[in-house]
Amino acid sequence: MTGDHALPVRVPTPRHYLMCPPRYFAVEYSINPWMDPDRPVDTELAMRQWTTLRDTYRELGHTVDEVPPQPGLPDMVFAANSGTVVGGRVLGSRFRAPERAAEAEHFRRWFVENGFRDLTMPRQINEAEGDFVWTGALLLAGTGFRTDPGAHAEAQEALGVPVVSLQLVDERYYHLDTALFVLSGEADGAGPVDGTGATARVADSGPRVAGSGDRVAGSGGAGRVGGGSRAQIAYYPEAFSEGSRRVLRRLFPDAVVATKADAECFGLNGISDGRHVVLPAEATGLAEQLTARGYEVRFVDISELRKAGGGPKCCTLEIRK
Ligand code: ARG
Repeated sequence: MTGDHALPVRVPTPRHYLMCPPRYFAVEYSINPWMDPDRPVDTELAMRQWTTLRDTYRELGHTVDEVPPQPGLPDMVFAANSGTVVGGRVLGSRFRAPERAAEAEHFRRWFVENGFRDLTMPRQINEAEGDFVWTGALLLAGTGFRTDPGAHAEAQEALGVPVVSLQLVDERYYHLDTALFVLSGEADGAGPVDGTGATARVADSGPRVAGSGDRVAGSGGAGRVGGGSRAQIAYYPEAFSEGSRRVLRRLFPDAVVATKADAECFGLNGISDGRHVVLPAEATGLAEQLTARGYEVRFVDISELRKAGGGPKCCTLEIRK
């Protein structure tokens, strides 16, 4: 298909995710503004929604492992908060809320049992991929509500990657991953813009056999714009302090800027493999922007999980070997 202007080719890379079924999911306490313990939650519906999310990843060719859910830990479905893995190194988590503290140990055990030898448990409060977002070259690190700023330095030491601190200022976007996600990482390919239409067929051939994007990009691809990152992100500027917005504009001049409506339905809690982007069904405005940039959107219904303040990304911890 050739439109008025051709789209860049978006090449997916196979991913490895760790998830935890919402078997004991509930909203029994309130640790973010979305959680209302008086509002009923349908655990069976949450299970079905989660299963669809997991199966969507598998259909896209990704690997999904599961950590066994534990009774008494109703938020354990939000696996993203329990570890940050870059280049096979693992930084575990330490939760701010006592209600979630025990989750960290269950995930730590999974990493040990699955052969991850380079594993650090943090001293500072660190809610893992809730506040740490890997671009393929930089670890974007949120603070303001959950993760301590000191955990950013700890992550840099433990993982050996450069960290960029970002200040969150709106309590509804209490984790970085509720306000920003990576569409294509530094190492993900975006082919040249090409008017022939031939490139679009190449991209349909499914995930290529390559790593999941933890290498620093070399030359080629879309090229660096104005000294910024080659990664492409989507974010909601209002969730960030003025200084952090400037940092984001500088690093990602080509970013997709989301609206309030996109943010409120957890549209920024998306998951991308470089081509396919899994979004909450309500994030229609964002989906249009992504489609116009050559991404392929897959909608999922996350109505039950949103009652706890989570979306697709919160349920998904990425293992980058
Ligand atoms: N109820 C959970 C909490 O407040 C939701 C966590 C969502 N996870 C995320 N990665 N944003 O901690």
